[in-house]
Amino acid sequence: MATADQVKALVKSHGEGDDARFYSVAMQVAARAARSGQNRFAQELRDLVDGLRARETVAPAAVTARLVPVTQPRGELASLLTVSYPAELLSDLVLESQVHSRLLKVITEQRQQDKLRAHGFHPLRRLLLTGAPGTGKTMTARVLAGELRLPLFSIRLDGLMTKYMGETAAKLRLVFEALSETRGLYFFDEFDALAGERSLSNDVGEVRRVLNSFLQFLEQDESDSIIVAATNHPQILDKAVFRRFDALIEYPLPTREAACAVISNRLANFDLSRIDWGRVADISVGLSYGDLTVASETAGKAAVLSGDSGIETEDIVNAIGERRPLINRKEP
Ligand SMILES: Nc1ncnc2c1ncn2[C@@H]1O[C@H](COP(=O)(O)OP(=O)(O)OP(=O)(O)O)[C@@H](O)[C@H]1O
Ligand SMILES: [Mg+2]
Repeated sequence: MATADQVKALVKSHGEGDDARFYSVAMQVAARAARSGQNRFAQELRDLVDGLRARETVAPAAVTARLVPVTQPRGELASLLTVSYPAELLSDLVLESQVHSRLLKVITEQRQQDKLRAHGFHPLRRLLLTGAPGTGKTMTARVLAGELRLPLFSIRLDGLMTKYMGETAAKLRLVFEALSETRGLYFFDEFDALAGERSLSNDVGEVRRVLNSFLQFLEQDESDSIIVAATNHPQILDKAVFRRFDALIEYPLPTREAACAVISNRLANFDLSRIDWGRVADISVGLSYGDLTVASETAGKAAVLSGDSGIETEDIVNAIGERRPLINRKEP
């Protein structure tokens, strides 16, 4: 086991954000464990450290993102925005090639924005994501923030929308002010609540005013923040909304291959050699990435608790069977 000094050094290096020291102490703990005969623990620890180091060289973005100190939104902004520092990467998503290449384009243009601006071009920065629940819209916001080392500011609709539309417009102004002051990824989830025909108010004129303010703020905004809006109900969005965005990305339900890939990624630590993937694909039809992730976790947890290192086709079939009634009850 680790000595008291090693534990202290681990905590200290973590506190100082000194990853190199942290890993080196962890390796010392592994060496010590190996010497005292705890070979399995030593190997697991070494593998963990190697995995983290490899991830760091591939993705310094994810690591730095956690270390960037950014002030929490204060005052009224605190009720409008929540901040987080995601570490997700594009490789964490299973995507159709078209969606993948569009996201890659956003990331590339953002990373090389100086080059683009030098030629009078602007990088893509206003994205509208549409798709059924559980298809990866929120994950995309996290991935873009993670890849670009930006803080993710999620707009809290409950804080923003009030029954007094005049107030809603004033709060929106605050959000757009924050957006030009602090570079980040600003995520408007359930965007249809704001820009759709449905609204808290029955007064059509007032609803129009909020929407117009939003569109005006969006158009006037020349910041270098990224604005991502997501909705399950693109059909109810006001038509005027679409052309204010630089890109519309539509998220489909997974194909057969994608469904199997999500399941095998989530259960990568298990022996999956006996799985009948054709059958798994058959019963996955109509399920979202989110549903398949939850079903995989159900199967994985059951295997862990019964001490199995492998997963059988039936385990996944049963887990999906448990999930289906919940899905069918979802709102249309
Ligand atoms: N393309 C994907 N690849 C891998 N996993 C995914 C993908 N999309 C979703 N998931 C998994 O499903 C979960 C739910 O996805 P997410 O929250 O992004 O869905 P959403 O599109 O935002 O849904 P909603 O419209 O309900 O907000 C994620 O946390 C992730 O685990
Ligand atoms: Mg979402």
